[in-house]
Amino acid sequence: MNTLEYIEQHKERFLKELFELLKQPSISADPKFTKDVRKTAEMVKDNLINIGIEKSQLYETDGHPIVYGEKIIDEKLPTILIYGHYDVQPPDPLDLWESEPFNPVVRDGKIYARGACDDKGQFFMHVKAAEIMIKTNTLPCNIKFMIEGEEEVGSENLESFVKNNKNLLTADIILISDTGIIANDTPSITTGLRGLSYVEVEVTGPNRDLHSGLYGGAVANPINILCKMISSLHDENNHITIPGFYENVEIISRQERDLMAQAPFNLDKYKEELNISDVYGEDSYTTMERNSIRPTLDVNGIWGGYTGEGAKTVIASKAFAKISMRLVPNQKSDEITRLFQSHFESIAPSGVTVKVTPHHGGEAYVSPTNEKGYLAASKAMQDSFGKEPIPVRSGGSIPIVALFEKELGLKSILMGFGLDSDAIHSPNEHYGLFNFFKGIETIPLFFKYFSK
Ligand code: BES
Ligand code: MN
Ligand code: MN
Repeated sequence: MNTLEYIEQHKERFLKELFELLKQPSISADPKFTKDVRKTAEMVKDNLINIGIEKSQLYETDGHPIVYGEKIIDEKLPTILIYGHYDVQPPDPLDLWESEPFNPVVRDGKIYARGACDDKGQFFMHVKAAEIMIKTNTLPCNIKFMIEGEEEVGSENLESFVKNNKNLLTADIILISDTGIIANDTPSITTGLRGLSYVEVEVTGPNRDLHSGLYGGAVANPINILCKMISSLHDENNHITIPGFYENVEIISRQERDLMAQAPFNLDKYKEELNISDVYGEDSYTTMERNSIRPTLDVNGIWGGYTGEGAKTVIASKAFAKISMRLVPNQKSDEITRLFQSHFESIAPSGVTVKVTPHHGGEAYVSPTNEKGYLAASKAMQDSFGKEPIPVRSGGSIPIVALFEKELGLKSILMGFGLDSDAIHSPNEHYGLFNFFKGIETIPLFFKYFSK
């Protein structure tokens, strides 16, 4: 039986099994769900054991467990290490979901649930692809699985797991489906990820909230000041003003930029999909360049003062913001965080104090397009989509990927099947049935070409 026949015969069960995983609220960020996260890890482990990855177990960490499994058929054959994450983002805001986030349903050919695309639906394709290869006796090489439960909160414990288990994790390549393709008729392979520096800032003015009439105009208002400070972080060309921020930014040649510009992109459709009348960003760069090869700084949340019903006349004592910076190759996350901190402190006017607290971060990643791993992915997609995939740098981050390279000396192939429109991290996250099954179809082809 070939892959397509196997899928056809078992697709209802594949979906049922995926739905069981999607029903679990494995929200890594929220301690209320610690038990659910663990239960999900157990289910993933059981899934691996059931398909014949007998050596599967949970590895405990200081946080959520890591699911690890392997099937070594011959030490002399190559080994493919599959990485993915079973944790998900919180589903908020709940009232914007058309169906419950943890009650998966199929609508219009798509699976709706938190984690459907990011990343349960995608790592599960690998579990099912492995099942097919094992059951049809076509597994051409060794396979290892490492599915973690803390990707959405920075993979801190996976970092130490990787550093302490280098022998366990020896492999020839890492294969990951946690990214996307351009469109269902335009396959692509992700060749780069951005790094990340994430900080929280706190601006403190007077020692208590004040009457905005009695004190207004005479003391610094932390919210006004915070807004002013934040808006000064970009200049009129939308360049970031932090001294040294661009110091190590990789310069991309005109030739490479021209090549990038050949990837299909429809600006009108982009605007229409987001219901915006225009795009916005750094001068002299295209939209696709702005969201991939250029570093950015964005406020992710901002709060302070009175936000309840009606009007309350008050000058808040404190204002807060969460700020992310997406980084490109050669920028170092720790260094950018330091540059941000000293700049932000330096621009605070007298009358307020500023505190900057760093969160998790990570480095950017690029993968070559002329090596065995990329070529195997390219041929696999060529076969399954009937079209040669386009290499694309993504704007998203999977910080652990750069760490895999540093600690294990292994490149990762980012062969994801999601779409930008899948609403990952947003209400109504979904994953196309087409994409789920196309992934399952493509993965054994990768194994075949990589093992040749
Ligand atoms: N799978 C995403 C990253 C992604 C999605 C990359 C689509 C490329 C295309 C991952 O789960 C994620 O959300 N990463 C976070 C970073 C993490 C440290 C929270 C991100 O990019 O914001
Ligand atoms: Mn993900
Ligand atoms: Mn994510």
